[in-house]
Amino acid sequence: MSATGARLAVEVVTLFPEAVRAQLAIGVVGRALGRGLVRVGTEDPREHARDVHRTVDDRPYGGGPGMVLKVEPLATAIVAAAARLPAGCPRIFLSAQGRPFDQAAARRLASGAGFLLLAGRYEGVDERLVQEMIDEELSIGDYVLSGGELAALVVIDATVRLVPGVLGDDESAEQESFGTRQGLLDWPHYTRPEEWRGRRVPEVLRGGDHGAIRRWRRKQALGRTGDRRPELLAGMELSSEERALLDEYREEQES
Ligand code: ADE
Repeated sequence: MSATGARLAVEVVTLFPEAVRAQLAIGVVGRALGRGLVRVGTEDPREHARDVHRTVDDRPYGGGPGMVLKVEPLATAIVAAAARLPAGCPRIFLSAQGRPFDQAAARRLASGAGFLLLAGRYEGVDERLVQEMIDEELSIGDYVLSGGELAALVVIDATVRLVPGVLGDDESAEQESFGTRQGLLDWPHYTRPEEWRGRRVPEVLRGGDHGAIRRWRRKQALGRTGDRRPELLAGMELSSEERALLDEYREEQES
């Protein structure tokens, strides 16, 4: 634990600190912050701009559209934010050019003392800032966002829910999709009513046979992963029982 008592300390360097803080106030993350399990600070590079206009961006060398975030206000903002983190925490730049952020990356970040996230805006940030002050670059997917704030929130959300004590049941995070050891998609969920628009809740879920329910859920998880994300299934080593469940799922889909 850090000096503040939080299990995880996060800093976000962003031109829109209020928007980031507002989003962090809700749901699981909001509760974790309220209980002091996690601490998230923000630092606005505009506060570090030296001129009267508080300039943070400038035209790109070489020409072209858009503006580039300048090194200097960003560098001092990063130093200020990093000073609130335990030593050695990684500094991460969010960009579409980064390595893919996935559940393994979330686990890695959740197991550390904290991390710093730099959210870019405009066309990008001066590359020298990345070279000098950033440890890794992460992307949340193959699409271009207008800024790194949404990506920072995604990284924080996926990470905070893995911090011990954040979810009611320590295992509930790991049971869900991608959190399972096998890396399968989640199975389908149902609640009342028993029938809606002619669609009935699968009989097995109402029977109370917990062995049968577990088996059905594993079969659905395997089948859905095969249907929707065949590349995930292809990379997995299936037991003979799992292969049998998958065959059973496919037969049921055909009938
Ligand atoms: N900034 C812009 N696009 C992004 C993406 N796909 N992931 C992370 N940060 C981004």
